[in-house]
Amino acid sequence: MLTPQELRNLFLFRSDITFLNFGSFGSCPKPIFEEYQRWQMKLEADPVQFITVLGTHYLKEAREALAAYVHCQAEDLVFVVNPTFAVNAVAKSLNLQPGDEILTTNIEYGASDRTWDFVCGETGARYVRQPIQLPIVSKEQIIEDFFKGLSDKTKLVFISQITSATGLILPVKEICAIAKAKGILTFIDGAHVPGQIALNLSELAVDFYTGACHKWMMAPKGCSFLMATKEAQKLLKPLVVSWGYKSLYPSDSLFLDHFQMSGTRDFSAFLTIKKSIEFLQEYEWEKVRAVCHTLLLENAPRFCNLLGTQPLAPLTSEFFAQLFSIPIHTKEPEKLHRLLVDTYRIEIPLAREGENVYLRYSVQGFNSQEDLDVLYDALVDIIEKTDLIAVGKK
Ligand SMILES: Cc1ncc(COP(=O)(O)O)c(C=O)c1O
Repeated sequence: MLTPQELRNLFLFRSDITFLNFGSFGSCPKPIFEEYQRWQMKLEADPVQFITVLGTHYLKEAREALAAYVHCQAEDLVFVVNPTFAVNAVAKSLNLQPGDEILTTNIEYGASDRTWDFVCGETGARYVRQPIQLPIVSKEQIIEDFFKGLSDKTKLVFISQITSATGLILPVKEICAIAKAKGILTFIDGAHVPGQIALNLSELAVDFYTGACHKWMMAPKGCSFLMATKEAQKLLKPLVVSWGYKSLYPSDSLFLDHFQMSGTRDFSAFLTIKKSIEFLQEYEWEKVRAVCHTLLLENAPRFCNLLGTQPLAPLTSEFFAQLFSIPIHTKEPEKLHRLLVDTYRIEIPLAREGENVYLRYSVQGFNSQEDLDVLYDALVDIIEKTDLIAVGKK
């Protein structure tokens, strides 16, 4: 296994940033980016044939590779540019009626909340953001909290497998099984999952699943997927109507026709997926991930002690993988964020969620203890020199 420094040399980052935000999106490793450019060169060499004929074949191979990686059938998978697109596609397809309910948590990603808020606003449906008690005490508690929001109007359960601002792994397997047994549709937002924790879609009772490949799988930006079971595919409408709708040359899948063709575009990012999977294997990413996870958890108490706050869940692999959100008391998160980026050259997000603010560090293969020490020292300095952080106080 390579050292963090050796791994860092594989990435395209500039060297003067302490990069602790792989969760939002990282930089592509060079071998993957070169493969991306190779596809783009191939496209430009013969654009019409590439986009209208050969592309379909290349995309099929890429879907097959991804399907094998996430354990589902290739015909149940389409590439989309990002999970936001997938959430929009599902939300706008469901034919929601006044009174229908979408059950979710109060710790979902802001763009997804906005999408559901918009669609529910248009249709008269309700978006039920069920509060999850923090800090989390157990998986059972999350499940109990979540299903308090259930009613006979619940049409679909929408939940993140790894949450955004809080960086927590949620028990989606159990939640989907319970929802399915009650005949409720299930949709998992797995934006942070592929490449960060193992994903086996065949083990989940899920109707719709979206994942980003441009996060922890390190594919170029604009590479994600939507999985829908054959039954669920029947519910979907094309989000962008193009030649695939009432296609003159239909394939045997309307799902594919409706989602693969959305006008002229460069889909090279999708075609790099095989290379991303090879990269993960070649550089022993399972071992790399285990080292990152250990580093993440070893440092967590130190940061919480410094800021006088508590971890959001027990410090185990049941709830955390490569993201850790430290609760932080600050009245000016935007100002604190600019200070960390501009003065200390640390790339790290500060997220507001309801009344709370979180400073979320990601640990990727190229990060070492040194990077986390840079963050720690910066926070000590900021606490000493400014009143931006209220240690231990609301
Ligand atoms: C939980 C979650 N869902 C979805 C997304 C999707 O973001 P995008 O569609 O912008 O790639 C993110 C991005 O960070 C996320 O954290």
